[in-house]
Amino acid sequence: MSNDRLHTASPEFTAKSRFKPEDYDRLYAASVADPDAFWADIARRLDWMRAPTRIKDTSYALEDFHIRWYADGELNVSVNCLDRHLATRGDKTAVIWEGDNPEVSERLSYRELHARVCRFANALRNLGVGKGDRVTIYLPMIVEAAVAMLACTRIGAVHSVVFGGFSPDSLAGRIADCGSKVVITADEGVRGGKPVALKANVDEALRRDGTSVVETVIVVRHTGGAIQMQAPRDRWYHTLVEGQPDTCDPERMNAEDPLFILYTSGSTGKPKGVLHTTGGYLVYASYTHESVFDLREDDVYWCTADVGWVTGHSYLLYGPLANGATTVMFEGVPNYPDTSRFWQVVDKHKVTLFYTAPTAIRALMREGEAPVKKTSRASLRLLGSVGEPINPEAWEWYWRVVGDERCPIVDTWWQTETGGILITPLAGAIPQKPGSATKPFFGVKPAVVDASGTVLDGAAEGNLVLLDSWPGQMRTLYGDHQRFIDTYFRTYPGTYFTGDGVRRDADGYYWITGRVDDVINVSGHRIGTAEVESALVAHPKVAEAAVVGCAHEIKGQGIYAYVTLNKGETPSEDLRKELVAWVRKEIGPIATPDFLQWAPGLPKTRSGKIMRRILRKIAENAPDQLGDTSTLADPAVVDSLVKERLIR
Ligand code: WTA
Repeated sequence: MSNDRLHTASPEFTAKSRFKPEDYDRLYAASVADPDAFWADIARRLDWMRAPTRIKDTSYALEDFHIRWYADGELNVSVNCLDRHLATRGDKTAVIWEGDNPEVSERLSYRELHARVCRFANALRNLGVGKGDRVTIYLPMIVEAAVAMLACTRIGAVHSVVFGGFSPDSLAGRIADCGSKVVITADEGVRGGKPVALKANVDEALRRDGTSVVETVIVVRHTGGAIQMQAPRDRWYHTLVEGQPDTCDPERMNAEDPLFILYTSGSTGKPKGVLHTTGGYLVYASYTHESVFDLREDDVYWCTADVGWVTGHSYLLYGPLANGATTVMFEGVPNYPDTSRFWQVVDKHKVTLFYTAPTAIRALMREGEAPVKKTSRASLRLLGSVGEPINPEAWEWYWRVVGDERCPIVDTWWQTETGGILITPLAGAIPQKPGSATKPFFGVKPAVVDASGTVLDGAAEGNLVLLDSWPGQMRTLYGDHQRFIDTYFRTYPGTYFTGDGVRRDADGYYWITGRVDDVINVSGHRIGTAEVESALVAHPKVAEAAVVGCAHEIKGQGIYAYVTLNKGETPSEDLRKELVAWVRKEIGPIATPDFLQWAPGLPKTRSGKIMRRILRKIAENAPDQLGDTSTLADPAVVDSLVKERLIR
């Protein structure tokens, strides 16, 4: 092993862990040697209405491209997450809901959750929603979000959850793209004591083009805040479920039937509708959840992600519930009412497994150790990280201060597209190096390629690709299969291209270095530079804009925008504020530019292409690394941008 600091799980942890140090190499080798046998065996963890006999049927070859897993199997996701636990775990807590307000929480048993899902599934069926119909969910982190997602799966409807922080425009685009008949929302959300106007945003979104497909808006009364209900379109959730039977016949779904769509940012303007299917996704989410988090029957598992992101799908809802686990759902934020909140919730509900994002750790780290140390956290036994590279300092702090040097840390690398975790430590079996996602999960075949696509051996740095399929892989981009193939399978033919850069060290450990495409990872949320640019140029005073990522102490990456104004407009502090607010309104607060530099001109090639490489270097405060600028149409613009740069 190299001399990076190695963290090996304690003997106490390893004594009880699912995987032991000697297991990993052997199991990994078996999983890639005979994927059919391996994944046939793993699939038995689910309840199938018809057991699959065909297991892996995939090809990345462009002339014969297909991805199918368990293709003749039939199952229902809600049955796997609920019904099958009733006999043995009916009274076990399925969901612990912790409100934004620390005074309120709620526990739902598997039996109660099953009944609530069935009632709402019946209500949706009565509205004419059935197999294959799309349903958009725009809800805060309340129990009804879990109920709504599971109810869709009960009747075979395809949900598209849109994060509550997205603007009416972003919501409208996502509703129109998949043609949802139904939108499920709440009067308001609350985060950090402040209301979020969800229903008003839906009203606004449904005035936009392309959203007239929506027949019904279902509204959960959550805060009781004043909203407008528009008859006959808008219906209250509580009246729809009233009197509905608490059982509901589950739809028989083929393993390859669509389960959900989740929009994510790509390197071009329009968000991509990532589509996951039923069988492979659930096998993969449940198996990785159990393995990576070393799940035991009495664990209390808390993933802090919002259900609006893939982590909230796979590791807050589907993975844990398919495994019969107790999952915590938190409505609030880490710093409300104060910065001890996460650890207070851990103590209150005796959380044993905790999964969060580096950005939250860095933000809390800045507050010092006292807010953590005044809580007990004795229940914790494993910590997880996801969403962006975790810097070694944050890793060590998480280990030392939060976990009291007792809890292994699983740094899990994956993507919306991958459905589940692909590169990760298995706590009892793989020693951790702070900052490295370590080794591939069973059945996963990562490779490092150079710019020409040559697969590099041994210690190497380059782009991260996957050489073969795994059951949780996305199957298409909704409505645009060609874009799916072009985006992921054409760059390095025969492989899936992740969009991430990576280094593999001499021990075979993987270190993700971040996105290599035009996607910025802000606090673990993906933002396409093109989305922010098109929002900026939509402003009447803006002629042109270019957006790049920059280093940001808390967020990992920040948004750095260069803006050229129309002739006759003058830069001012007020206009800067106005443009920042404009982007927030157009896309949502997560896309707020951190830096906005006035650019008299942008560096362009003679053919008019913006040279982002140069803009990235200026935003990185590395003006000495601009490289060759001689091919620029007007090299002088670079000097003025360098002179006026905002980060020094
Ligand atoms: C980044 C979130 C380093 C990566 C599950 C990836 C990470 C993108 C890690 C996907 C990690 C996620 N270490 N980078 N442990 N986890 N990323 O689709 O750049 O929201 O491509 O999925 O986040 O983001 P997404």
